[in-house]
Amino acid sequence: MENLAKITIALDGPAGAGKSTVARLVAQKLKLVYINTGSMYRAVAWLILKNNLDLNLQKKEILELVEKAEILLTQDDVFINGQQITEQIREPEISRFVSPVSAMSEIRTQLVKLQQALGKNGGVILDGRDIGTTVFPEADLKVFLVASSKERALRRQKQQMAGGIEQSLEEVQAEIEKRDYLDCNREISPLRQAPDAILVDTDNLSIKQVVDKIIDLAQKSLN
Ligand code: DC
Repeated sequence: MENLAKITIALDGPAGAGKSTVARLVAQKLKLVYINTGSMYRAVAWLILKNNLDLNLQKKEILELVEKAEILLTQDDVFINGQQITEQIREPEISRFVSPVSAMSEIRTQLVKLQQALGKNGGVILDGRDIGTTVFPEADLKVFLVASSKERALRRQKQQMAGGIEQSLEEVQAEIEKRDYLDCNREISPLRQAPDAILVDTDNLSIKQVVDKIIDLAQKSLN
């Protein structure tokens, strides 16, 4: 796997398609650094909420706050300004609030810059919505991971239950569909498959099958 040490893998797709689970496992197997870019948008959303700032009325204050913020991702945890917020950013309140936050162009510009700096030496797998289109359009491998909204809701509900968060399946599915709509229809960097990304539908695949497929594609991409 020596030749894979410097690879850049872009893994995009809608909410709940299994990107983070798969990216983490691919990273472990190929000894890559895993960068969950959704966590960065969530961390910023958390910071804005915590400071009681209004997205429409206090844009200037928000941008100042975000500019000064120090976001740190370790393999397991998310920190902002030194505070560990790994669990907090998974709360439904943040999931609802993060879409409008991630639609703010100035915030995107800042986070994209951070993502590009973190990944500039390769040896990385990034998951998100715009990695293959905007963050690393020259990535060695681009995968667009999809699954039906029902399947994604089932998976997300299971994940939430493990974290002690209870929400009905209908509610989770409705939120996922709403977020898909917002992510696909925002003006800047909308969620869309890069022309050269490989589509992987995970509905009838196990996690292991998806991971193996991506590792296989990664090896082929360097040949
Ligand atoms: O993958 P996630 O659900 O943790 O992402 C949280 C939100 O951030 C989601 O609404 C889409 C947005 N996002 C984005 O706009 N661009 C990215 N690269 C990653 C996430």
